[in-house]
Amino acid sequence: MDTKTLLKNMTLEQKAGLCCGGGFWETLALPDLGIPVMTLTDGPHGLRKQSVSADHLGINESEKATCFPSAAGLAASWNRDLLYKTGTAIGEECQAENVQIILGPGANIKRSPLCGRNFEYFSEDPYLSSQLAAKHIQGVQSRGVGASLKHFAVNNQETKRFTINVVLDERTLREIYLASFEGAIIEGRPWTVMASYPRLNGEFCSQNKKLLTDILRDEWGFEGFIVSDWFGVSERDKGLAAGLDLEMPTSAGIGTDAIIQAVKNDGLLEEVLDRAVLRILNIVFKSVEGRKTNVAYDKAAHHALAREVARESMVLLKNEGGILPLERKGVIAVIGAFAKTPRFQGVGSSHINATRIDIPYDEIAKVAGDAELKYAEGYSLNDDTANTALLEEAKKTAASAGVCVIFAGLPDKDDAEGTDRKSLGLPENQNHLITEITKVQKNVVVVLINGSAVEMPWVNEVKGIFEAYLGGQAMAGAATDILFGDCNPSGKLAETFPQKLSDTPCFINFPGDSKQVEYREGLFVGYRYYDKTGVKPLFPFGHGLSYTTFEYSGLRLDKTEMTDTEELKVCVAVKNSGTRAGKEIVQLYVRDVEADVIRPVKELKGFEKIDLEPGEETQVEFTLGKRAFAFYDTDINDWRVESGDFDILIGKSSAEIALSAGVHVTSSAVAKKCYTLDSTIADIKDEPAAARLVHMMSTGMNGGKELGMDISALLSSIKMRSLVATSRMWSGGKGGITIEQLHSLIAAMNGEGEDIHG
Ligand code: BGC
Repeated sequence: MDTKTLLKNMTLEQKAGLCCGGGFWETLALPDLGIPVMTLTDGPHGLRKQSVSADHLGINESEKATCFPSAAGLAASWNRDLLYKTGTAIGEECQAENVQIILGPGANIKRSPLCGRNFEYFSEDPYLSSQLAAKHIQGVQSRGVGASLKHFAVNNQETKRFTINVVLDERTLREIYLASFEGAIIEGRPWTVMASYPRLNGEFCSQNKKLLTDILRDEWGFEGFIVSDWFGVSERDKGLAAGLDLEMPTSAGIGTDAIIQAVKNDGLLEEVLDRAVLRILNIVFKSVEGRKTNVAYDKAAHHALAREVARESMVLLKNEGGILPLERKGVIAVIGAFAKTPRFQGVGSSHINATRIDIPYDEIAKVAGDAELKYAEGYSLNDDTANTALLEEAKKTAASAGVCVIFAGLPDKDDAEGTDRKSLGLPENQNHLITEITKVQKNVVVVLINGSAVEMPWVNEVKGIFEAYLGGQAMAGAATDILFGDCNPSGKLAETFPQKLSDTPCFINFPGDSKQVEYREGLFVGYRYYDKTGVKPLFPFGHGLSYTTFEYSGLRLDKTEMTDTEELKVCVAVKNSGTRAGKEIVQLYVRDVEADVIRPVKELKGFEKIDLEPGEETQVEFTLGKRAFAFYDTDINDWRVESGDFDILIGKSSAEIALSAGVHVTSSAVAKKCYTLDSTIADIKDEPAAARLVHMMSTGMNGGKELGMDISALLSSIKMRSLVATSRMWSGGKGGITIEQLHSLIAAMNGEGEDIHG
């Protein structure tokens, strides 16, 4: 039976029930109608399937699954194919565990490095985030399992996440926070989207029609169903009317009753309910079609994939004097409790019961060859204050070695769902340990294990810094591969590492007050802020070192003049000029040279990851369409390009632009004119009428010159409305421009009629 016929056979009660979840992780089954149960469970960097009686915060164990690197690390790979591959493996594990929808990936923007769930999100940049999310979704769904893109939208902090009211302007919303989802929806085509907890400009996202229907469905063409975040429903009927199809988990009949009541007595149209039911049914039956029984996945192969992915998810931040890769000789001191008790994932609903966990010290021991290894714990994981005995032992160990590798990082509570960090610091005992060790050992490498940026007060004292992120269950092996040069590091930061918390764009406005948070930094999130203000980050967005070197040359654009309906082809040659094979992430940024609206200095609009043998050169190509040049114009509620010159910048990072070339773009859209009596002379400066008005005004204002005033600057800020009085004054009370004449002029300039007064 097709879903439309099925719908006709359903009672109001059955339809309302289907929209309200049957259990903690399951939809309602209606066996009499042949509607099976569908399981939705976490995600995102692996499968977390809990038993039926489970809590949902990871306290109860879940089934074993492969723990891949968290999104923060995955994003540092900038590798679309790897994201796809990871998605396929997760999809296979879902099939093996009879899960139909996996809750992820998360495409929320990293607004502040303090957000407790940043480890689950990709980037501060919407283009990078949406590209990677799309590939993750495609990978999962290629295995007949649905992804649920979350948390839509503006879930950028954990503090008061269920209730906080996020206040931000439309342009910022579109260009930063929604853009991160938009590309993921359009290219990834997820089966479902999860509505987030917070309110957006006063309305809960889970009952926000503009978000769920007008933008997600009508503008972006999303066809799947929208599910609430767990316990995120406020008023079920309002949510339904706004476009929220499925409430999860079950509300034990409360949501169902609310829908029934609303349809029977409160004017909720049954066709609204029917639409939601159809969307859910379509996915339920799609998952039935995609279902593969008796699937078993190869745990060892998935572990090997987790290691491959982790290698690219790590970023070599500093490598003074080529301290890395390590030589397999002499004495290597391995310091830090994380070397034997590693962290490799964050805390909360994404927590995975890993099939296997590699230990850094053991992995190093396997490949260290002739090197002698020494170990010291250095700090306690249970207490942040320095422990003198551990410190002294570590210093002694470090002093007796040729090189010292310190494993440091954040504690569980700092990469956790439900809370935000208060500072960017590592625990005090770790910072102290690193500083003290640099006093007795000059060859220090710090391996960092964390889900978001940290401050590094010792940055200038150590020679090597290697960001391993929360690298998943194979993190240890991957980090070892890089430490010893068996793999060349190729990750680059998908987020800025600031020098200190007070340098961050939303320092003053994070996490807001008890009720609301205002995104006052506007568009200037991440590198957009550091670029604009000149505040120097510790490590910029896009930064990452390699054991080889790359040379960029021959940047070519296929045209230097274009319209915004055309595409621009960009080509650049990149050569591996070093002696090792390596991968490079080539970044393309676009700068609007001169704009009437406020724009970031540059924005990421393309990236490619390439793999080159020593001496090998390749051509990297990009295609840019209108969107690469556009801003969101709130006057026309659409994307618009301002005609003018743009620079195409090719960079090794956001702070290291290697090549640039210019192109002139002519816009196919004109700015909407919204002149009013309160528009100034400056506002209308490009209108032919402006010259006449200025002339009229300046004739009367000759006196100002004697006072040394800049007449034209003064005039340009005057409201047109004032012309009526001033022109009458200066014409001796008899003439001048009338209010009717001004109205007619303004209408003509707005393209709403002729200037009947001439
Ligand atoms: C989280 C979601 C998660 C859901 C189910 C919520 O608290 O915000 O990301 O998918 O719980 O565990």
